[in-house]
Amino acid sequence: MINDLEIKKMETDDEIRGKAYVHWKSWHEAYPGLVDQEYLDALTLEKCEKIAYNWPDNLIVAKDNGRVIGFVGFGDRGDEAPDTGEIFALYVLAEYYGKGVARQLMKAGLRQLTNYPQVCLWVLKENKKAIRFYEKCGFAPTGEELISSNIGAAEIRMIMKQATVMETERLILRPWEESDAEECYKYAKDPQVGPAAGWPIHTSVENSREVIRDVLMVPETYTIVLKETGLPVGSIGLHFHNDLAEKDDECELGYWLGVPYWGRGIVPEAAKEMLRHAFEDLNLERVWCGYYDGNTKSKRVQEKLGFKYQWTTEEAPVPQMGETRKGHVNLMTKEDWLAGQ
Ligand SMILES: CC(C)(COP(=O)(O)OP(=O)(O)OC[C@H]1O[C@@H](n2cnc3c(N)ncnc32)[C@H](O)[C@@H]1OP(=O)(O)O)[C@@H](O)C(=O)NCCC(=O)NCCS
Repeated sequence: MINDLEIKKMETDDEIRGKAYVHWKSWHEAYPGLVDQEYLDALTLEKCEKIAYNWPDNLIVAKDNGRVIGFVGFGDRGDEAPDTGEIFALYVLAEYYGKGVARQLMKAGLRQLTNYPQVCLWVLKENKKAIRFYEKCGFAPTGEELISSNIGAAEIRMIMKQATVMETERLILRPWEESDAEECYKYAKDPQVGPAAGWPIHTSVENSREVIRDVLMVPETYTIVLKETGLPVGSIGLHFHNDLAEKDDECELGYWLGVPYWGRGIVPEAAKEMLRHAFEDLNLERVWCGYYDGNTKSKRVQEKLGFKYQWTTEEAPVPQMGETRKGHVNLMTKEDWLAGQ
């Protein structure tokens, strides 16, 4: 991670020229062999500057120590697809790969597109690294492909459904925002909450803000907001491609709640809606859910929801706590869920 990474709208002359440099440099770093060499040769720094000055809108830059090191461009697709936003460019200098810059830029771009039910992008078919990155961000290939004649390469289209806002009798489930940090800290600093679920207590409001930014602001993780107060009191999410949920058509359900709200059936109420969402909206086949030995409250939640016991692992890794614990694994299949409706 970079300590003083700044993500901001592209505004100043310096930033426009910085963006042009990243455009030029990153194409020459990442695309030789992938796109037509003639096109690359013609893509000079001057040309990139021209583009940057001519189309300065809808651009966000990432700056390290005042220097532009990446940018994201976003926009709409006009009448062609009024419900679809687009990430039309995302570039980071090669020396900054692997430092989380692209993810921060993607989040910033998506934040500008929250009004669109879905967001799409085009990526070079052979750019496997980028495709993997976009998949981790929640995009999936649509199967559409085109050969872009000017760059002489095939591109594929990927799409991401934007996080929905869900509602139950007493709750709103909505994406986390950085401005939730104070409420999050109120509950996540309590040693009765995180450690039971396998993560350490939050140490400050700033720490909560970081966790929101880096862990909670991901597709399909929602804060549980009480309608009564309008404030977040916990978190619930569907997690994909981890040790438990390896396949594309399955996920793991995770949740936690602020201690003052325990015992009112809040998490079961939120989880019921999440299960509906998983099976109906996302068309998944299996939802896994686990708890560590001794977490009787979480065990009860899963029993009440109708999860079925699968197996126990004597030494399940708890990476964030640097230990192993006995863990129990439950499962809800789509079939079981349908039978219970
Ligand atoms: C597990 C957790 C999410 C339960 O949420 P919840 O909304 O309180 O769930 P429920 O109201 O259905 O309560 C579940 C069970 O907890 C127990 N319980 C509830 N309130 C309690 C309290 N204040 N003190 C002790 N036990 C309590 C009861 O046994 C209850 O089951 P019951 O309905 O059969 O009586 C919550 O306790 C929590 O956040 N725990 C810490 C994080 C965690 O363990 N997450 C899950 C990781 S797998």
